[in-house]
Amino acid sequence: MTSGYDSGDKTPLEAVTYVSFQELATRVSHRNTGKVTNDPVADRMLARISKDENLHMVFYRNIVAAALEIAPDETMRAIAGEVIGFEMPGATMAGFRRNSMIIAKAGIYDLRLHHDDVIMPILRHWDVFERTDLGGDGERARDELATFLEGLDTQASRFVERRAENRARAAARSDSDETPDVAS
Ligand SMILES: [Fe+2]
Repeated sequence: MTSGYDSGDKTPLEAVTYVSFQELATRVSHRNTGKVTNDPVADRMLARISKDENLHMVFYRNIVAAALEIAPDETMRAIAGEVIGFEMPGATMAGFRRNSMIIAKAGIYDLRLHHDDVIMPILRHWDVFERTDLGGDGERARDELATFLEGLDTQASRFVERRAENRARAAARSDSDETPDVAS
């Protein structure tokens, strides 16, 4: 904690845009982690932490909203870049991909939640797709963002379908495991 968050080579505008999404992502994942613990104390603790994460998100989201008013094109470029290149902190940690998959399979954080509960509510709050104050580069950035979001939505649907199939298969397997083996 003493070292803080290293935003790497992001500009200040990119960094505040990134954390707007990242704080909401932590809110969603902490909340859902609480639910799967099946432990009322852990659930309440994580609910409390996720409330804080929401306040962090609101703080950064307000800064970006102000930036959109001052510099719409530059800010739209930052938004498109941060959504398209989004990665949670720790993406370079050993085992990150494997752990992300476990978390997604458990429904704690997956592409559907990322699209529906993190990216889209913030974009709506910023009026991203209704703005009429963009110049050429802002328009291009918004188009790139829209194309990316379509792909993300498709991927999210595919993931949820596959997960449902796998869960159904696993449930069928465990049912048949419970059937007494009459031959023995
Ligand atoms: Fe936070």
